[in-house]
Amino acid sequence: MSESTNQYLKPITTLVNDKGNIEIGGCDLVDLAEKFDTPLYVVDEKTLRSICKDYKKAFEKYPKIRMMYASKALCTSAISKILDSEGFGFDTVSSGEIYTVYKSGIDMSKVLFNGNNKSYDELELAVNLGVGRFSADNFFELALLNDIAKSKEKFVDILLRITPGIECHTHEYIQTGHLDSKFGFDLTQIDEAIELIQNEYTNLKLHGLHAHIGSQIFETSIYPDEIEIMAREISRINKTFGLNLNEINIGGGLGVKYTQKDAPPSTYEIGELIINKLNEVIEKYEIEPPTVFLEPGRSIISTAGVTLYTVGSSKQVPHGTKYVAVDGGMADNPRPSMYQAEYFAEIANKKEAEKNETVTIAGRFCESGDILIKNVELPELFEGDILCVYNTGAYNYSMASNYNRVTKPAMVLVNDSNSEIIVKRETLDDLIAHDIIPDRLKK
Ligand SMILES: Cc1ncc(COP(=O)(O)O)c(C=O)c1O
Repeated sequence: MSESTNQYLKPITTLVNDKGNIEIGGCDLVDLAEKFDTPLYVVDEKTLRSICKDYKKAFEKYPKIRMMYASKALCTSAISKILDSEGFGFDTVSSGEIYTVYKSGIDMSKVLFNGNNKSYDELELAVNLGVGRFSADNFFELALLNDIAKSKEKFVDILLRITPGIECHTHEYIQTGHLDSKFGFDLTQIDEAIELIQNEYTNLKLHGLHAHIGSQIFETSIYPDEIEIMAREISRINKTFGLNLNEINIGGGLGVKYTQKDAPPSTYEIGELIINKLNEVIEKYEIEPPTVFLEPGRSIISTAGVTLYTVGSSKQVPHGTKYVAVDGGMADNPRPSMYQAEYFAEIANKKEAEKNETVTIAGRFCESGDILIKNVELPELFEGDILCVYNTGAYNYSMASNYNRVTKPAMVLVNDSNSEIIVKRETLDDLIAHDIIPDRLKK
């Protein structure tokens, strides 16, 4: 079966040029670091478009598939434009993400709004902007959303987020579909929710069910398991309540290759499994072929992104670890300190040099836990070397902070030897732009 782009460790355009430097998207990474400064997020457009094509091809035999990009993985205006041009819709989880895609000129009927505690203001904004689907997470939200829709004399289209009770073997912080999860309705609560929608919340129009099992998933069996439960429930609900639900959203979650030892499945493998299972349950439960939403985030954007850092100080602990510090860390990539995520790195300006040292890459932030990569084999590192950390496209910029009052890095899109800024580097003035000194303290 063909490979897909999420199975690569590095962007598909990565090569070593005749200066011995790493090049991505036809751009020498050392030149990028010099031109735009570091830390620097770099996104390779070809890799991003390549995974979009992998997904579309993998599901082409099921025309009722709707590809939605989970924008929580990386949400910027330019990235939204690229995904839109590839025919993707958007799974959003906040007014910030909704506003970003709206201002990027996206058709809002292609947007879905998820989340376990959407506020009144967020729901109102989403209703006003004509967001296409709301994934209603709980009883509180059903009431709130119905009130908002009613007050505007509108009807809103919803799915019910359910917890199908499937566990996947990923980090517990990124598991979401198990029974004791904070997300969604338990299966035993579905009927009560539907009765409320039918009898009281009449400004809500229910189309189907939604679930998301977890993230960085390597087990292919969870998707058929999930489809089995959702199809069974759809069939049962339609019979019990005389409804005609015909949409299922099976979430995202496909894994990526952060290090050599990771072996995520391909989009083609999960595509075949999902389509076979859909055909099976359509027959078994005698249901109309449902419209199926898929909302991958990490597998769409992770491989396309790398982060460049400049090496600064180093410290050899006598008889212990050699630490090499770079000019970024947990504020631009919180994943290693948050859930022990592992990464792979190379030196952009010494790609071909012999790897003769095992070092630990430390961040610059004031926490002992601010370690980007433990025990990585690299050529001897010196101040000024440019470190390239791979697979940082997802959940890096979107989880970035200003910890230690450090400015957030810029982001550059590379393609065909061009490099274009798509997120400006924050300035020191940006950092204080929202600060206010009360008059009484000004004396
Ligand atoms: C509801 C929902 N859909 C989609 C995603 C995207 O998951 P991933 O980035 O693993 O594809 C998430 C991530 O947590 C999610 O919570």
